[in-house]
Amino acid sequence: ATFDLVIRHARCVTAADTFDADIGIIDGRIVALGAQLAAGREEIDAEGRYVLPGGVDGHCHLDQPMNDGSVMADDFLSGTRSAACGGTTTVIPFACQMKGHSLREAVDDYHRRAGDKACIDYAFHLIVSDPTPEVLNEELPALIREGYTSFKIYMTYDDLKLGDREILDVLSVARAEGAMVMMHAENSDCIAWLTERLLAAGKTAPAYHAASRPMLVEREATHRAIALAELVDVPILIVHVSGREAVAQIQWAQAQGLQVYAETCPQYLFLTAADLGLDEHTHHHPGAKCICSPPPRDAANQQVIWDGLQSGSFAVFSSDHAPFRFDDPQGKFVAGEDAAFNQIPNGIPGLETRLALLFSAGVLGGRLDIHDFVALTSTNVAKMYGLYPRKGSIAIGADADLVIWDTGIARTIRNADLHHDVDYTPYEGQTVSAWPRTTLSRGKVVADSGQFLGKSGHGQFLPCNLPTPARPRVRGTR
Ligand code: URP
Ligand code: ZN
Ligand code: ZN
Ligand code: ZN
Repeated sequence: ATFDLVIRHARCVTAADTFDADIGIIDGRIVALGAQLAAGREEIDAEGRYVLPGGVDGHCHLDQPMNDGSVMADDFLSGTRSAACGGTTTVIPFACQMKGHSLREAVDDYHRRAGDKACIDYAFHLIVSDPTPEVLNEELPALIREGYTSFKIYMTYDDLKLGDREILDVLSVARAEGAMVMMHAENSDCIAWLTERLLAAGKTAPAYHAASRPMLVEREATHRAIALAELVDVPILIVHVSGREAVAQIQWAQAQGLQVYAETCPQYLFLTAADLGLDEHTHHHPGAKCICSPPPRDAANQQVIWDGLQSGSFAVFSSDHAPFRFDDPQGKFVAGEDAAFNQIPNGIPGLETRLALLFSAGVLGGRLDIHDFVALTSTNVAKMYGLYPRKGSIAIGADADLVIWDTGIARTIRNADLHHDVDYTPYEGQTVSAWPRTTLSRGKVVADSGQFLGKSGHGQFLPCNLPTPARPRVRGTR
């Protein structure tokens, strides 16, 4: 059969290999890789540029209802549009259970929210915030079998957090079913105690957000998460790891042979606590733009994160896109322009900038092998959440989710050029030497040269298989 599309002269890079080939595509899938393929109905000449599997962003928040009156800036259209323009072809946002409600309600609600808005493919993680016997015994096992095979649990945030006993119960279900548990590891009581003291001392500016969540708080919870998972004998993924202390706990666990995986994010490489501003001022403070949890640390900790990416301590690199507008009463200043740091919604946007930042500073900056870049941003993520090999590779039979990269360029990141619905990027003014030139989702061009060319409704919901690292295996065969 004639190819629908042939991408000529691609320098293909996977997590394992680099090879020069033409890529033949039929019905949205890669069907041929080779020299001088026959003509396609359409052709794109990559002219020897790098062609990588599309990014899989395994951690982002889209259209997630908040309890404080704030509203997320991105829905399933603006979020996936922005992702596509940044070289990401699959996103995995969350379907968040609210306490007192069922998991099924959450799943139905988020499918309604997604509607036919998405322009790239998506799956869902669950957030389990109310593990009742019904949830543990009926709903969760049923949903895992329907393709919701990963879920996040929180050790902090009053409306989401679980106690240790509840965490053990959720981990047990994951073990029985072969699901992956993502852990938000920060000690809730320590944060509450520190916050109370800071506020009592009049220390309310955004800068004190970092002081209220020091690394110790993350270290303790990371250690406890690892211990709880060891007790249950189940793999876990520690998400959004920020620096040295949590990394030390993870490396210790990995050295024991425990199946402890870790994720980090651009904010821990490209921002520091100094981006939260100085300590004397609250009114409409730009430091609110960079409030996220855990907070960004300092330059020495950025280096620890780079080292962890190089050494394999981290399995995945995600955006943790949690978008709130700055100059908007439903955004960062939902509690007023003079709100204390603990009233400011947590989270920063990053879907569109994730890949360019890491490719530029990592691969072109000589800090990261290009195959490791593909693994961290695509292949490992697809494996972690049961989407491999359909997603995350350039291989016969895989979806034609591909990115043709421009490298050796000089580009300054400007929010005006981005495609999300957020009124700022925390990376404004940072320069990159690479950017995705053309993004294809199942063989369709969804972004090209900074222009969004996708269509809402093109993106499909992906039920996930069991995560590769969580599949039962015989002990001692590691
Ligand atoms: O500050 C953050 N990271 N907000 C998003 C929610 C989460 O905990 O990942
Ligand atoms: Zn989190
Ligand atoms: Zn103001
Ligand atoms: Zn998150």
